[in-house]
Amino acid sequence: MDDLEFNRRYGPWALIAGASEGTGASFARQLAAKGLNLILVARREGPLDALAEELRAGSGVECVTASIDLAGDDAAQQLLAAAGGREVGLLILNAGADPNGAMFLDNEVANWDALVMRNVMTTMRALHAFAAPMRARGRGGLIVVGSGACYGGLPGINVYAATKAFDLVLSEALWAELEPHGVDVLSFVLGRTDTPAHRELMEARGMAIPDGLADADDVARLGLERLPHGPVCNWGEADDEAIMSASSAADRRARIRQISAIAASYAKKG
Ligand SMILES: NC(=O)c1ccc[n+]([C@@H]2O[C@H](COP(=O)([O-])OP(=O)(O)OC[C@H]3O[C@@H](n4cnc5c(N)ncnc54)[C@H](OP(=O)(O)O)[C@@H]3O)[C@@H](O)[C@H]2O)c1
Repeated sequence: MDDLEFNRRYGPWALIAGASEGTGASFARQLAAKGLNLILVARREGPLDALAEELRAGSGVECVTASIDLAGDDAAQQLLAAAGGREVGLLILNAGADPNGAMFLDNEVANWDALVMRNVMTTMRALHAFAAPMRARGRGGLIVVGSGACYGGLPGINVYAATKAFDLVLSEALWAELEPHGVDVLSFVLGRTDTPAHRELMEARGMAIPDGLADADDVARLGLERLPHGPVCNWGEADDEAIMSASSAADRRARIRQISAIAASYAKKG
């Protein structure tokens, strides 16, 4: 898709939650290069402001920033407030890594609460808030950045994997519900990626940084390319390959299409 068409479908503003570094910053740079204006969200103001300045100077796009803790109970409201009256045609929910790296019982439950708040509650509420005007306009895009951990429980990434499973399943359902309204939804499932947050965790655990981590710019490029081809894109896999899970993205799409008609009859008509 050329930049003109991308802007028509997903412009004029994109909001990126978790924008200040890693894949979030890569999404921001690539969207600015396509001419989209940006609302950049993370907790630390310094890196957000620096990125906004770089994008304004380099691409001439408009850029606003908002310091929001996505684990806060009112985070989705704050995201809406940050958007103000701007027409957000693309929402990217990127923040979502697990800073804990702990067995379930070896961590304070408050830390698990925060992970669930950010990855489940804020994700669900933000999708609800931002998808509604997209459906009314008949166009838009939603990218939920996921993890291969979504495909099964593993020791040490317990709550994280469970939140990512929630995000995957919700995104798949929204893909089917919003497709007839011109809104694209993608659960973008990443493997191990070279981001500051990932390096920090590995260093804190005394782990060597392995070769072959995915590059954040490559990851963001693929996510934007695959947005019209949801519901799932698994990093490093062709659409019909099944490496991270038992079923390929193509199989999952086909299954959802197959049962959509029956499933939809359970929905109360508004
Ligand atoms: N890196 C990997 O190997 C890997 C593998 C699989 C999946 N993923 C997925 O890829 C996405 C990006 O991961 P990442 O490694 O870059 O780490 P991350 O911590 O999810 O993302 C970093 C960005 O999110 C912001 N952020 C984190 N927590 C936040 C919060 N509570 N409120 C507001 N902003 C917050 C950070 O800025 P502030 O710190 O300033 O808030 C930063 O801009 C995540 O969804 C993760 O699950 C990553």
